[in-house]
Amino acid sequence: TDAGAYKNILVSAAGNGVTLITLNRPKALNALNSELFTELNEATAAADEDPSVGAIVITGSEKAFAAGADIKEMRNKEFAEAYKGNFLGHWTKISQIRKPIIAAVSGYALGGGCELAMMCDIILAAPNANFGQPEINLGVIPGAGGSQRLTHALGKSLSMEIVLTGKNVTADDAERHGLISRVVREGDVVEEAIKVGATIAKKGQVAVQAAKEAVNASFELPLAEGLRFERRLFQALFATKDQKEGMGAFAEKRKAKFTNE
Ligand code: CAA
Repeated sequence: TDAGAYKNILVSAAGNGVTLITLNRPKALNALNSELFTELNEATAAADEDPSVGAIVITGSEKAFAAGADIKEMRNKEFAEAYKGNFLGHWTKISQIRKPIIAAVSGYALGGGCELAMMCDIILAAPNANFGQPEINLGVIPGAGGSQRLTHALGKSLSMEIVLTGKNVTADDAERHGLISRVVREGDVVEEAIKVGATIAKKGQVAVQAAKEAVNASFELPLAEGLRFERRLFQALFATKDQKEGMGAFAEKRKAKFTNE
């Protein structure tokens, strides 16, 4: 990764197999313009390809994870341009990354910021985190998965309230309703996300990738198909060295050393 090539994000190795990506447009509260998202796609794809990386953490600033798509960039867009150019279509690439992505959210995660967090696999939040889909106040609706992923996470009633009224929810509410996995003590959210990433990076990476694929399949498939898909992946893992090593180490009462094969 050529970290110096990016203008809107910072990319660094956080150690222990974790790549840290920091959204870096602090003056605009990390508003997500096209260039930023293109860079984010490149950086996550590069981490996905890098065998030394086992997990990715995406974070913003103390005040804002991201305050949404860049309103100033899109305010004069017309329908034909948006439609022909498949506006926001390239945002979905993040959800095709195979390695686990952890969002470390402080401050505002609004509109596209909330949607980006929801494209990640695990969301950890600081106590000041604030989630919402305020697009209704701009005369539009969520355009990068908000109406779909929020509803999967929160159910119909609260999602409708958020999307229709534009009200935000606090970190505590987000935790209570299952949007995030947990609230982390003030000041610790990035460090904690890196720790979770490092824990994942130590596992056998074939199994990690299969696990992510299996959980994600539950959002797409009917239960019987999902169960079948999971079972096939489970069976396939008996073809890996990591399975022999993992189960062998347990039986021999030693720590497993995975080789990702
Ligand atoms: N786009 C462009 N610029 C933004 C922005 C955004 N989404 N959010 C904040 N900014 C800019 C502000 O314009 C301001 O810039 P200037 O200093 O040049 O005026 C700077 O960031 C700081 O913002 P504020 O002065 O507004 O900060 P605040 O603390 O008073 O308020 C806030 C913070 C409540 C988050 C407020 O900035 C806000 O409401 N932002 C917009 C939130 C929003 O509507 N997001 C949804 C966008 S649409 C979308 O995301 C579509 C989709 O589904 C993909």
